Amino acid sequence: MRFLLILSLIITQSCTGQNLNNSSFTPGDIWKDADGNHINAHGGGFYYEDGTYFWYGEHKNQNSLAQVGVRVYSSDDLYNWKNEGVALSVSTDPNSEITTGSVIERPKVIYNKKTDKYVMWFHLELKGQGYAAARTGVAISDNPLGPFKYIKSFRPNTKIWPKNIDDSEKVYNEEDEKLEWWTPEWKESLIDGLYVRRDFEEGQMSRDMTVYVDDDGKAYHVHSSEENQTLHISLLTDDYLDFTDTYVRVQEGGQNEAPAVFKSGNTYYMITSGLTGWDPNPARSFKSKSMLGPWEKLGNPAVGEEAELTFRSQSTFVLPVAGKKDAYIYMGDRWNPKNHRDGRYIWLPISITNGKPEFKWHDEWDLSFFDTLAP
Ligand code: GAL
Repeated sequence: MRFLLILSLIITQSCTGQNLNNSSFTPGDIWKDADGNHINAHGGGFYYEDGTYFWYGEHKNQNSLAQVGVRVYSSDDLYNWKNEGVALSVSTDPNSEITTGSVIERPKVIYNKKTDKYVMWFHLELKGQGYAAARTGVAISDNPLGPFKYIKSFRPNTKIWPKNIDDSEKVYNEEDEKLEWWTPEWKESLIDGLYVRRDFEEGQMSRDMTVYVDDDGKAYHVHSSEENQTLHISLLTDDYLDFTDTYVRVQEGGQNEAPAVFKSGNTYYMITSGLTGWDPNPARSFKSKSMLGPWEKLGNPAVGEEAELTFRSQSTFVLPVAGKKDAYIYMGDRWNPKNHRDGRYIWLPISITNGKPEFKWHDEWDLSFFDTLAP
């Protein structure tokens, strides 16, 4: 009898894989893919097509340097994920910008209807330079699973002024750069565009980022710029492969990182984090009637115990659930800088209460949460 039981267990496991039976989310636990391995897709971005969700993320080892590249997983229910391999590989060519040992973070994939191509944007730091390069990178594929072909990386908006900067703020003053960091004079100068002026010729810094495709097909690149002190939102070209000359500064001096954008009705919402590296801090939220702003501050969307640490997570994406109205999932990373591959995923259901996004902690939840939301 016992033999038969064990045999049937073995057969079931080998037919279905080990972990294709999840029916809920358990934020912060080890999340096993169908092969039984903890999902390795940090700083993730999500794309949905024809009943399949694709999860792109940073393949991490113990440290956070890119040794493999961007991994992709697929799922048809968001609970059970299949490892689909490497969507964008690091290069073994030491002269490549995405060579092994570079930093590839926060990959986001969007689909371009006009060109029928999948476009991946990500934050790139060049090997051996820490976080000094502050570039955005782009890659392209015919297939959501890849392989994505690396195109280029750069600092965007070279020799272009943001739409919302005054003429008086365009005048470079060498003295500004001598201001001591964190003094009131420095902060004032920063808000006035100190780093936009400094980086005007060489391009604006681009670190934590996301991309967002609007209903009209226009795509926007949102990134931490100006020494991570100010967000920039830029309109991409029609093929999504480049920047146009349209961009704005958002929350000047507000120190926002980890942007995630979603739209409910006619309102755009953005969730971000503060600036404490791998350590968690209180999330922030904003709303706007247009991607190019103005963005209004709404406060911390996390509610309840540990909200001041966003339940020990940092935002990476907000996913609209396919087929459910007003169903959005906050997706965050609980980083583990001692062993990056053990970083955990914190997904929580968002409700929009009085025009403000909110999410609370759940040890375990499932998509039926959204069926109980008030209309
Ligand atoms: C975080 C950022 C991460 C990573 C990290 C490096 O603030 O959100 O994506 O860049 O800093 O310290």
